[in-house]
Amino acid sequence: MKKVLFIISGLNYSGSFSLKLGNSFVDEYKKKNPKDTVETLDLNTHKIRFYDMDDHSAVYIKGGKDLNKEEAAKSKERNALVDQFMSADKIVLVAPMWNFSIPAVLKAYIDMIIIPGRTFAYTKDGVEGLVKGKKIIFFGARGGMGYDGPMSKMEMQIKYLENVFGFIGIKDQKSLVIEGSAMPGADTKVNDLLPKIKELAHNF
Ligand SMILES: Cc1cc2nc3c(=O)[nH]c(=O)nc-3n(C[C@H](O)[C@H](O)[C@H](O)COP(=O)(O)O)c2cc1C
Repeated sequence: MKKVLFIISGLNYSGSFSLKLGNSFVDEYKKKNPKDTVETLDLNTHKIRFYDMDDHSAVYIKGGKDLNKEEAAKSKERNALVDQFMSADKIVLVAPMWNFSIPAVLKAYIDMIIIPGRTFAYTKDGVEGLVKGKKIIFFGARGGMGYDGPMSKMEMQIKYLENVFGFIGIKDQKSLVIEGSAMPGADTKVNDLLPKIKELAHNF
C-alpha cells in the first residue's frame, strides 16, 4: 500500500484548470490503486506561513540547539510538514503559473520543507538530496502560450519545480501543463488531455 500526497497550491476554485488536471489524475489513480491512500494538502487552507527570523535562527544560527519557545514551536511546525512530505511515496503537485512562476504559498511551503539535515545535506563532495525513492508529478496551467518556444525564458514554473525537487533528491519527475487557459477553447484542451492523464495515472 502506497501513500500519495496531493499538494494544491492554486486557489481551490471550481474553474481551476490545473486543479482539474490534478483531480482527474487522482481520480484515475484511485481507480487503479484502490488500496493506496491519498492525503490532500491544500496550502492555502493550511495557511502556510513565510520562513522568518525564528526559523533562520533555529537552523542556521543555533544549529537546532538551545532554541527559545518561538524557535522551538516553529521548528516543530516545519518538521511536521517535512514528516508529512517524507511519509509519502508519491507526490502530486498542482501549480498554476503566476507571474511566470508559482504561487507564493508554494514557494513558502518549499522554504518550510527544505531544511539541511532533513531534505538535503552539505557533504564534503557538495550538496546531496536526502529525499530518495520518491516520484513526483506536476500539473500546471498557464493563461498564455509559447513557454516552450518564444516565451521559454519566462518559464519559471515547471522549470523551477523540477530543479528544486530534483535538488532535494527526487529524480523521478513528470509534468503535464495546459497552456492558453485564458484563451478560447481551453475547456476542449483540458478534455483532450484526459486520455493522457489516464495513462499517466495508471503508470504512476
Ligand atoms: C496572479 C496571477 C498571475 C498570472 N500570471 C500569469 C503569467 O505570468 N503567465 C501566464 O501565461 N498566465 C498568467 N496568469 C494566468 C494563469 O496562469 C491562468 O489563469 C491559469 O489557468 C491559472 O491556473 P488555474 O486555472 O489552475 O487557476 C496569471 C493569473 C493570475 C491570477
